Amino acid sequence: MHPAQLNIFTDPETLAQSFARELAAQIATGKTLHLALSGGSTPKRLFQILASAHQELDWSAVHLYWGDERCVPPDDEQSNYKMTKDLLLAQIVIPEENVHRIRGEAEPAAEAARYGKVLGEKLPQSDGVPVFDWVLLGMGSDGHTASIFPHQMELLEGKEACAVAVHPSSGQRRVSLTGPVLQAARRVSFLITGASKRPVFTEIIHRQGQWESYPTAHVRPAGHLEFYLDQSVLHVGS
Ligand code: 6PG
Repeated sequence: MHPAQLNIFTDPETLAQSFARELAAQIATGKTLHLALSGGSTPKRLFQILASAHQELDWSAVHLYWGDERCVPPDDEQSNYKMTKDLLLAQIVIPEENVHRIRGEAEPAAEAARYGKVLGEKLPQSDGVPVFDWVLLGMGSDGHTASIFPHQMELLEGKEACAVAVHPSSGQRRVSLTGPVLQAARRVSFLITGASKRPVFTEIIHRQGQWESYPTAHVRPAGHLEFYLDQSVLHVGS
């Protein structure tokens, strides 16, 4: 495992509270922050906590992006944007031009190209790769992250910042950041909770079993890598 900071919490609530404090402290600096959000269910509580602090936080220097999006309309229950809008965006004041939605309703390949162009325009670049200040990621029980699944390890490489991914069981298409963008980030935080993640995460952290077959194991950013875990994922001393 790439040198990574492990933060282990007793439960998802204390994890979310702690991470929210970290993120709020960075937002409170007023410095421009290019932040990529993860989808799925893990960040929901985090977004609720950030929304409840909305009076104290000035979001005007924050630019929000997504690490991946399902190819569904923005009002679809499966949309990562809809989840974020319902739990966070609708509760805070953030300039509309700072919210860079992946258009799930668009033709996937065209949207991957468009979003890659947006990243090229909005973010600093390092060797032609967009550099996020901070990327939030989750991990699926199969070791995927963003929408880079084990059957599409090629998305860990490549020249494009975004690519079309396919969910291995549902076949649902996704638009996802690719590996090079994750590697170029200044800070990558995985938020991982739930016993279902434990088997794969244990293999990854101990470099055992099939650890190299999991996309999460290959995220080794140039910047800071940290894992926010609850005890059901990794017991202290295990
Ligand atoms: C998505 C996410 C995905 C997610 C993991 C974990 O679009 O689903 O971006 O990468 O982070 O699947 O999902 P949970 O948080 O729901 O366990």
